[in-house]
Amino acid sequence: MVEKIMDIKTKEEFFKINLEEGKYLDFEDIFGNNYPLCLEIGSGKGEFIAVQSRFHPETNFIGVELKGKRIITTLKKLDIEKNSNVRLMNLFIDENVTDFIKPNSLDTVIIYHPDPWPKKKHHKRRLIQHKFLDAINPIIKINGYIKISTDDAEYAQWIIDIFKERKDFKSIYPEDFTMINPEDHFTTYFDELQAQEGFETWFMLYKKIAEKN
Ligand SMILES: C[S@@+](CC[C@H](N)C(=O)[O-])C[C@H]1O[C@@H](n2cnc3c(N)ncnc32)[C@H](O)[C@@H]1O
Repeated sequence: MVEKIMDIKTKEEFFKINLEEGKYLDFEDIFGNNYPLCLEIGSGKGEFIAVQSRFHPETNFIGVELKGKRIITTLKKLDIEKNSNVRLMNLFIDENVTDFIKPNSLDTVIIYHPDPWPKKKHHKRRLIQHKFLDAINPIIKINGYIKISTDDAEYAQWIIDIFKERKDFKSIYPEDFTMINPEDHFTTYFDELQAQEGFETWFMLYKKIAEKN
């Protein structure tokens, strides 16, 4: 037991990034290389980041998760040698993302099963809306991607409608979404949970084709 707690502490020291106010993160310094960078927002219990980072050792992964307990669950899945290209942040992300990630940094942004906030009075809490996309546009490289999934049909339509109104991101899927698991998808805890409840997952994939207008 003591060994396990020490193990988590050692992993925390290695994997967790803490922010310094007013300073951008220096990814070259953090990872020791300038490989492409993938940001996962709401990394949950860490299934995606733990597996994809092993498949793609020449990509760096940052997982941001608001709940500390889920960061611990993710740490348990990570190995300092096998996942040396992963770092985690315990943070609530919104437009504040530009405070610590400098422009033109990200190759991919992953947002799998963002909280759908189904009640109308809570829609303003949804992550995906214009003000967030306006904020995140400059930190994504041109031709970089945003990958999204949701099992909430109404949120899926909301997301599709928002992106349709924008000139800076283009859907890669001709119908704006697919319900077939993309090749690189790894089933997450929430995928499984929602599938058991009978909900299907919608996948959306957008490419940044222009700077914000
Ligand atoms: C429904 S879960 C999905 C987790 C994971 N992506 C998956 O597919 O299994 C949503 C996760 O995002 C986290 N989250 C929600 N809003 C967030 C935000 N603004 N910043 C960081 N994490 C957030 C929640 O704490 C939760 O763990």
